[in-house]
Amino acid sequence: MKVLVWELCHIYFNRFCHKEKAPSKRKMGIVIGALVAFLIVAAVAAFLIWLFVSTLSKQLKPSTQVFSGHMKLADASYNQELEDTTSNEFKVLSDNLEAIVILFSFYDLFFYHYSYYWSQFDIPVEDLEIEPEFSEERVLETLENGIKQQRIIKTNIKIREITSSFTDPRMARNPKSNECFFRLEADEKEQKFESPGYPTAYPPRSRCQWQIRASVENVISVAFPFFQIEDDCSDDFVFIYDSLSADDSQAITNKCGQRPPSNPLQVVSSGNIMLINLITDSDTQKPGFAAVYKAIPNSEAKKCGGVLSESAGVFTSPLHPSFYPPAVDCEWTIKVPKGQKVRVKFTMFRMKEPMVDIRVCHKDYVEVMDTKYCGELSSLALTSDTNVLNVNFHSDESYTDKGFSAEYIAYDPKDPCPNEFPCASGICIAKELQCDGWNDCGDMSDERQCHCEKDQFACGNGLCKPRLWVCDRVNDCGDGSDEKQCSCEQNEWRCGNGVCLPQDVVCDNKKDCEDGSDEASCKTSLGICSDFSFKCNNKECINKVNAECDRVNDCSDNSDEAICDCGTRPYKLNRIVGGQNAELGEWPWQVSLHFLTYGHVCGASIISERWLLSASHCFVTSSPQNYIASNWQTYSGMQDQYKQDNVRRPVKRIISHPDYNQMTFDYDIALLELSEPLEFTNTIQPICLPSSSHVFPAGMSCWVTGWGALREGGQKSQILQKASVKIINDSVCNMVTEGQLTSRMLCSGFLAGGIDACQGDSGGPLVCFEESGKWFQAGIVSWGEGCARRNKPGVYTRVTKLRDWIKDETGI
Ligand code: ARG
Repeated sequence: MKVLVWELCHIYFNRFCHKEKAPSKRKMGIVIGALVAFLIVAAVAAFLIWLFVSTLSKQLKPSTQVFSGHMKLADASYNQELEDTTSNEFKVLSDNLEAIVILFSFYDLFFYHYSYYWSQFDIPVEDLEIEPEFSEERVLETLENGIKQQRIIKTNIKIREITSSFTDPRMARNPKSNECFFRLEADEKEQKFESPGYPTAYPPRSRCQWQIRASVENVISVAFPFFQIEDDCSDDFVFIYDSLSADDSQAITNKCGQRPPSNPLQVVSSGNIMLINLITDSDTQKPGFAAVYKAIPNSEAKKCGGVLSESAGVFTSPLHPSFYPPAVDCEWTIKVPKGQKVRVKFTMFRMKEPMVDIRVCHKDYVEVMDTKYCGELSSLALTSDTNVLNVNFHSDESYTDKGFSAEYIAYDPKDPCPNEFPCASGICIAKELQCDGWNDCGDMSDERQCHCEKDQFACGNGLCKPRLWVCDRVNDCGDGSDEKQCSCEQNEWRCGNGVCLPQDVVCDNKKDCEDGSDEASCKTSLGICSDFSFKCNNKECINKVNAECDRVNDCSDNSDEAICDCGTRPYKLNRIVGGQNAELGEWPWQVSLHFLTYGHVCGASIISERWLLSASHCFVTSSPQNYIASNWQTYSGMQDQYKQDNVRRPVKRIISHPDYNQMTFDYDIALLELSEPLEFTNTIQPICLPSSSHVFPAGMSCWVTGWGALREGGQKSQILQKASVKIINDSVCNMVTEGQLTSRMLCSGFLAGGIDACQGDSGGPLVCFEESGKWFQAGIVSWGEGCARRNKPGVYTRVTKLRDWIKDETGI
């Protein structure tokens, strides 16, 4: 043993192996497990080596590295008895294996189809810098060296094919304990299993494994109708493998968080085995999961591809919207009549894998016309060069995802987009969107080679932008050309109001421009407070754009990060491109306000357990009834107006802004105090209120939501609707609203029309997603001329301007 130990020592620990001390019983602890495959039937083995390494001084604390992989056995006959670890057959084979891989002694052994081992190395923390020595390659090398010695041992078992990959140590089960360890047999009948403690709560520090097997001609499908694990995947998670041990090279997926019923987790194996691990570390206990599993014929699970010769159709990755199985290849050939071409539009595309560069897509991908696509794509549309288009789908052995759903259509190349504008990317957009100053195609092709109208400015990059945007201190062209030759000289600074001041007024710790813009983005101008600065609780000013809740402590009292439990959605959602129906839990701050017997009348947003934000004009009308709190009901967590599974709270008090003007809609903001606090859930969450200095720049894409009319003069919607709208530059907004804009208003939508809020959306939120990962409310749906008309964008109450009033009234 000692000799062997030293050999291994030379391989792995040469940095400190050659110390002179005599060997001690201090264990270095290498655990190596193996799962072994036979040619016909397979075996799983786990072995353990205890390495007694002499050289490590006692005070060194070990840390653990785990490697997993598999090896295959040839020339060993398989027999059902091998699966019983107490059988004689088992003992004979395990002894034989132990003799072959002489470096290891068996720790746990179980035989089945595919095969792998895991090994665990304890490394002293102080020596962690040598960890690269324990690379997957080095472990492999050692194993192979061990196996080469099988020549000298009298046995007829041969090991072929060994792999080794690094694995999270928490996934290495103690094979001696059957605690939270389950072996399940899948057949065509659906069966159930649940996480421990479901549906109340799983225990902390659980290490649970479910090994699922099926007969050879089948694969295993597992669906999770209920799934709620801690949000932080580094604490608690479910890890699913396409094997029986935690071999990362055969991982299917790793998930945590909560999933709404509309987006269940559903996975499939490539063969007849699957391993599900539940790891929980945190003390925050969640309900866990309920799962159903069954065997499905291999041929059915991997059925895909073929010739598509209709003039239009739909095709999807195997088993979509369930995860596709690992190790599948499909090819679709779309063939349309000669002279026509094919357009393919991916309405959903998700093939995301850890550590994959989406420019290379070396793992799973869809390949069309020599280009590979992977990752998560929100708008992928392609057109063929001829009447035939091949689409290839490839999934490798590890990590799978929801895959894709695609529509194809044959088109006449002479008129690729009847009555629409053809983008270079292949998609068609409304004609009016061409040359309107917005990148609607996504590739700018609708904004290039535009002949700029008289009221438009020709940007340096070929785009046309409304003249009004020139010199408004917003880089509308994208290349800065609209802000270059503005009235100030080169060595001058232009204030927000157009005043030119000498350049040296900038960041001189003195507010020279009326709006403080000369001091707004200075790192050092701590004390200077302008409209652009974030004001900390201790009156300090932070001159940084959108300092609040960006996960950086900017204020010395940390008040910029203090109240940030907002603007997140707990559910992991399906992202279907284009659909306008909102999903349950997608906008958890959205509230429906019902008035007397009229049903839904206005929207509102949740800003705390007790307070909702809405628009004054919902309450201050010609009828005094609207201002009586008890005439209103609020519904939170709602998606469908006809479903009763939402939370109702009566209104205790309505506070309308004292300066609200019924004629001009100025100060169109109201607060509703609830008579009973809300409890935050997956579908009920507060939105973040922006500080008064928060900037939502023109051109930013935000979302407006509500149950309002689907078109001007139309019916209210039963299902919550969402629309992506862009923040419109103030000077343009003022122009198109014919001067009706006040500083308490902002415009959002599209000058081309077509997308907007409408009657019944009032009071609802306009929310924008910030880089910090949170949603902030930029506006409250207030008014508009008609709905979605050209040059008549939606007008919203500007929340930043009224932020202080909200604080004064509610303390929030
Ligand atoms: N005032 C309307 C309401 O009561 C909302 C109007 C919003 N209109 C618009 N085009 N964005 O629901």
